[in-house]
Order: sequence, then C-alpha cells, then structure tokens
Amino acid sequence: MDRIVINGQKRLSGAIHINGAKNAAVAIIPAAIAAEGVCVIENLPRIEDVAILANALQSLGMDCKFLDPHTLQIDASSIKERKMTYDLARNMRASYYLLGAMLGRFKEAEVPLPGGCNFGARPIDLHIKGFEAMGAKITQEHGMLYAKADRLAGANIYLDMASVGATINIMIAAVNAEGVTTIDNAAKEPHVVDTANFLNMLGANIKGAGTDMIRITGCQRMHGGEYQIIPDQIEAGTYMIASAITGGDVVVENIIPKHMDSLSAKLSEMNCKLEEGGDYIRVMAPEPLHGVNIKTMVYPGFPTDLQPQMTALLSTAKGTSVITETVFDNRYQYMTELKRLGCEVTVEGRVAVIEGGSTLTGAEVRATDLRAGAALIIAGLAAEGRTVISNVKYIDRGYEGVETKLGALGADIRRETR
Ligand code: UD1
Repeated sequence: MDRIVINGQKRLSGAIHINGAKNAAVAIIPAAIAAEGVCVIENLPRIEDVAILANALQSLGMDCKFLDPHTLQIDASSIKERKMTYDLARNMRASYYLLGAMLGRFKEAEVPLPGGCNFGARPIDLHIKGFEAMGAKITQEHGMLYAKADRLAGANIYLDMASVGATINIMIAAVNAEGVTTIDNAAKEPHVVDTANFLNMLGANIKGAGTDMIRITGCQRMHGGEYQIIPDQIEAGTYMIASAITGGDVVVENIIPKHMDSLSAKLSEMNCKLEEGGDYIRVMAPEPLHGVNIKTMVYPGFPTDLQPQMTALLSTAKGTSVITETVFDNRYQYMTELKRLGCEVTVEGRVAVIEGGSTLTGAEVRATDLRAGAALIIAGLAAEGRTVISNVKYIDRGYEGVETKLGALGADIRRETR
C-alpha cells in the first residue's frame, strides 16, 4: 500500500543513470529457457516484473538466482515443470513468453492467459497463429493456455500487425524448431533486437532483427552465456520529459540516444534544448514550451509507452496539442486522474486534445497502470502543492527507485509505506 508524495514545482538538475530495459528483460529471462546451459543476464532493472519472472522460473524447478541485484543466473537444464501457475503469472503481460520458450524447448507448455496493463482488448491471436503455423496445437481452458506439438517445424509467418510480443515469442519458439521460420511484418523495437542478440549469443541463428523480415534457422542445441541488457528507452524518455516539465537541466546517462530519436524530435519541436553524446542526452528547458501533435506508432515512431507522460507535459505547454494513439484501442483511462491535477483534455476515440498552459495543482490520485503512474509523477513534479499517488505497485513494476532517482535531481518526493 505504498504511496508517493510529491511537493511540486522544484526544478530538476543533475545527471541520472538509466537501468536496463524492462521490456527486454521480461523477454530475455524466459528466452533463457530455450538454452540448456547456464545464462548470466546482466544490467537487469531491479523491478517487480523481473522479480516475478525470476520466481516464476524457480517455480518451474529451475536453478535461478540473483548474483547481485542486477544480475540473474539461470540454469534451465534443471527445469522440472512445464506448467506455470496462475498466481505467478496473472499480473504480467510478458508471461506469454513462457509459452513460446517452453513450447520451443519441450514441445509442450501450460501458462495462464496474460495479465498486465489494461489498454482495452490485448489479444494474443498472432502469437497463437504463429505457433500453430509451426505445428503446435493450442487450446484454452479455465484461463490457461495449453500448447503441444509432436514436432515444431519452421514456417513462413506474416503478422497482421507488427506486434512486439508476437514477434519475440515466435522468434523464441523458432530457435528450437526444425528448419527455417520467417516472420514478415515483424516489430522492430529495440527489445526485439536485444532478444535476438541474446539468443544468437546462445548459438541461435537469427537474421534481420530490427527490420520487418526476420529469418530464424532452428538449431539443435543452444548453450549458455553471459549477456548485458540494453538501456531502457522508456525509463530514459520518462526522465527526459520530467526534465522538460520542470524547466530543468538533466543529463540522462547510460542510454542509446538513437532509441530516443522520436522523443528528442518532439521535445526539440516544443522548444527544449537537447545535447546528445555517445551514451547520454542532456535535456534543458530554459524557455517556455509550446504544444505539438503526436501520433504513437511502432518503432521507430513515437512509442505508445511514452504517450501518458507526454500528455502531462503537453498540458503545461502553450497552445493546443493533439495526440493520436494508433497502437492500442483504449489507452486513455488514466486521463480521469490527470484531470484531477488540472490537465485539460478531451478524448474522442483514439484522439486526445490537450488544451495547454494549465497550472497544475496537487491532488490525491491513483496510478491506473505503469506508464499512467509515471505520467502522474511527471504532472506532480510540475504541480503547485502536494500530490499523493496511490497504487504505486504499478509504478514499481517498471521503474527502479523512481523516488530516489528524482530526489537526487532535486525533486521533493518521498515514498510512504503504510
Ligand atoms: C509490448 C510492450 C508494451 C508496449 C507494446 C507496444 C512488453 C512486455 N510490452 O506489448 O509495453 O506498449 O509492446 O510497443 O514488451 N495485437 C493483436 N494480436 C496479438 C498481439 C497484439 O491484435 O496477438 C495488437 C494489440 O492489441 C495492440 C497491438 O497489436 O493493439 C500491438 O501490441 P503488441 O506490440 O503485441 O504489444 P505487447 O507485446 O502487448
């Protein structure tokens, strides 16, 4: 029942270190099941989703332990179970990767239907079609998905949508299939590439990750290895936006600046000053900011996972901004909470119109999902007076030490544990 309490209107300045990418971590940890050797995964963020997955692997009988808070050692040779219990996986979208990983390696798996943030219907039909094309039979009963195959054979798979989850899941299963699998209209997000790099390091043969056509040649046996996860694009973007909303001067370090291009372009258009180095971006907002229009898209477009944070920023910028959400059909549920802080927004279907120039005022609000929680923190940093955010468990799913990191930049922010 933790709460985050912010006394707003403190300008942020200094440097902030970005952790490893959540969405890469939650794919790469299950992907380790594909190999029979010992995997050491470094630069993991210390977040709830990673802890849940580590527990999930342990519950399957795997030898899985943290060597330090950011390094997990997984020995999937000792796996005993093929069934993931509902309790362990129900809060996580990424539990679906266990299906692909176990199906690939053992030709059978049983996992709960995925949970995670609710942005309207989030089907996994594309994952299932992919597995079926490879010869698996998938059934659903009592909230569980069962997958079984006598043999998994490579197939040519076209994704109706460039789904991140389906691309990664099919890739993980296909490394243990016989023959060649192609994924057409594949997602190109950085964590797709990171997962492919991880699997290739274990002996897989994946070509084309980062383009819309991925080709996987199945291999007989994969070994262990050591791998370092890429920096988190969305955590980095969240703090870049936090700097902008407080008129701050923050160096966001340990990132891949190229991954931030779509956000950097929008912040520059708003009047922020950006300086980019090899592994950092400095975000300054010395002048008043003005509104911009944003359309969320698959990578390299503007990420849907930064849409809520951007809404908070745009509500303080001058003029009217329009956001069009093209990835999810219902990702504006958080607006009710943002409005409590004074944001002026009207939503019509996938379009949100933000009347900028609002003076935000602190209030009691509730995080409704992970990135919505981040948006409330950003709005709270700019708001007059005290903002109290409950349901912090959502924020803890994806941000390591958010209050410590922002506190070090000069925010008046603390966690209350009740
Ligand atoms: C992943 C990310 C999430 C991010 C999203 C989009 C993880 C764990 N989560 O979610 O943070 O917001 O990518 O970048 O990496 N779809 C279908 N059928 C499917 C699969 C997806 O219709 O089988 C639709 C979804 O409903 C959505 C769109 O495709 O409208 C994109 O979803 P997808 O890229 O799969 O997102 P997730 O993997 O759920």
